[in-house]
Amino acid sequence: MALLELESITKTFVEDGATTPVLHEISFTIEPGEFVAIMGPSGSGKSTLMNIIGLLDVASSGSYLFDGKNVENLSDNEQANVRKTKIGFVFQSFNLLPRQITLDNITLPMVYNNTTKLQRAKRGHDLLEEVGLVDRGFYRPGQLSGGEKQRVAIARALANKPSLILADEPTGNLDTANGKKIMELILKLNKAGNTIIMVTHDHNLASQAHRVIELLDGRVVSDSATKTSTNQSKLSDKKPAKKPAKKPKKTKAKKKAKK
Ligand SMILES: Nc1ncnc2c1ncn2[C@@H]1O[C@H](COP(=O)(O)OP(=O)(O)O)[C@@H](O)[C@H]1O
Ligand SMILES: [Mg+2]
Repeated sequence: MALLELESITKTFVEDGATTPVLHEISFTIEPGEFVAIMGPSGSGKSTLMNIIGLLDVASSGSYLFDGKNVENLSDNEQANVRKTKIGFVFQSFNLLPRQITLDNITLPMVYNNTTKLQRAKRGHDLLEEVGLVDRGFYRPGQLSGGEKQRVAIARALANKPSLILADEPTGNLDTANGKKIMELILKLNKAGNTIIMVTHDHNLASQAHRVIELLDGRVVSDSATKTSTNQSKLSDKKPAKKPAKKPKKTKAKKKAKK
């Protein structure tokens, strides 16, 4: 069974009388174990799509099945439950709690998942090992490098053994060397069976994913899995870009949209 099934998903923001159509008729399916890169210029709707996939926001129309269940039929509580237990998030800006040590940042999602202190301590240690930070467990985010912070965020995303990891430009705030290391970690996690969707501007990183979905103006213009490609699309032939990709716009604070 597919892990995700999106069918004709659209999203239009309506705020203060202004209507902004952002996503148009997005349809694709993702199977367990896939590693999918989502590419597209700044403003093409990548984060909006990730927020819908991650149940941080709701689509305006279309259907979305997560793990075979129609998300629309789930109550707010059930959606929150899926989000907390089945989806791990990694953001460009790490989003760590500055006053908490690494171990507590990593195991935070477990606190809301009926676990004991002992279970969290044990899992926390395993996760530190998994991301190569055993000697940083008692550091606070301010004492860590960018690459290390992103490792902490990845460990936190893994804490509840989610079915899906969503990473929105995880290397966007890192230099090339650290970005490469984060990518190696993400590839390792995928090899271990994790399903991963990663937004990136970097063609070299995207080419390491098994599948690339490209967005332009809120539409899928190519999907390497189905080999659909419109003549608007030149990005998907897996060649590194000659020029570096444009710097992404500052992303908006993630918030659950009001229904
Ligand atoms: N809450 C919102 N209200 C109105 N417009 C929004 C909102 N969030 C995003 N947008 C608009 O949707 C478009 C796509 O944004 P986004 O999904 O963040 O793109 P990307 O992640 O590809 O850079 C942009 O034009 C942005 O201004
Ligand atoms: Mg974005």
